[in-house]
Amino acid sequence: MRVLGIETSCDETGVAIYDTGKGLLGHALFSQVDLHAEYGGVVPELASRDHVRKLLPLVREVMRRTDTHPRDLDGIAYTAGPGLVGALMVGACAGRALAYGWGLPAVAVHHMEGHLLAPMLEERPPSFPFVALLVSGGHTQLVDVRGLGDYRLMGESLDDAAGEAFDKAAKMLDLDYPGGPRLAALAEKGDPERFTFPRPMTDRPGLDFSFSGLKTYTLTTVRQYAQADGLPDEQTCADIAAAFQEAVVDTLVIKCRRAIRVSGHKTLVVAGGVSANKLLRTRLESRLREEGAGVYYPRHEFCTDNGAMIAYAGCLRLQAGERSGLAVEVRPRWPM
Ligand code: KG4
Ligand code: ZN
Repeated sequence: MRVLGIETSCDETGVAIYDTGKGLLGHALFSQVDLHAEYGGVVPELASRDHVRKLLPLVREVMRRTDTHPRDLDGIAYTAGPGLVGALMVGACAGRALAYGWGLPAVAVHHMEGHLLAPMLEERPPSFPFVALLVSGGHTQLVDVRGLGDYRLMGESLDDAAGEAFDKAAKMLDLDYPGGPRLAALAEKGDPERFTFPRPMTDRPGLDFSFSGLKTYTLTTVRQYAQADGLPDEQTCADIAAAFQEAVVDTLVIKCRRAIRVSGHKTLVVAGGVSANKLLRTRLESRLREEGAGVYYPRHEFCTDNGAMIAYAGCLRLQAGERSGLAVEVRPRWPM
């Protein structure tokens, strides 16, 4: 089975072709980062318009590069949610229309399912069951994954997502959008022991998270050391970034260890934009080894939004006999 996957839920236009026999044949991504940078965050209307401009040329490019003709395809998968409604509409309309025009079945994919299955595209894929830590700009969730579509939410953030907290803390330190990776880079120059930030909700049982207090703590520290230009000196900014990153990573690691113990599974899968964070990776690997559990990630480029994870998830869904109807429906909010 060969499936074309389309991802347009936020600010990346992603297209890929996955083949059950040959694996991932090809993928292409157009990032809108530069477009939104001057606004300090994603502008939904601009995102939709740019997906309209980029999507079909990307589909054409991936088809050409992989030498795929529409008759070689067995289906089309598109992200139907959660995400920005206008952005989702672009991918869903295009995916549904192409499938109709080419006489193929279409399937609507849950964006977070795409993320949690992304490590399966790697050479050494994890197998079910596992615990998934989904950490992106919009989600922080621990999920008990027993099989395709058999997902139980174990815990989630009650307020900001981890990626969102990274982005907001980065803004307080006057770092450009997207802040997460920039804050992580600044943290490498900092002393993680100069400040100790709280580890929210780790002193009580349960697997939920809360990152908004950490944001306030960051702001208070920035103001406390602010100079005439409103920012602390360079080294203090780096020390704050390091303390913030330590606190988020430590909190995530504590809850992952707990989730592994509660579930009895021996595998942790980490996906979503924040899974690109180096400190999170090294900490998780060492702390979960102590629990006898293995940790799996997607390759770096598939940590953030991409078409490959949608093509793959769609392929599994189509194989399981799932089809979406002719009406184009998107779900900006869609519990997994
Ligand atoms: O999964 P993703 O591409 O989009 C969403 O579905 O949200 O995740 C993007 C998020 C952003 O908040 C970004 O700042 C964060 O992932 N991120 C990072 C790093 N790389 C991306 N956060 C911390 N450290 C990183 N290295
Ligand atoms: Zn995402």
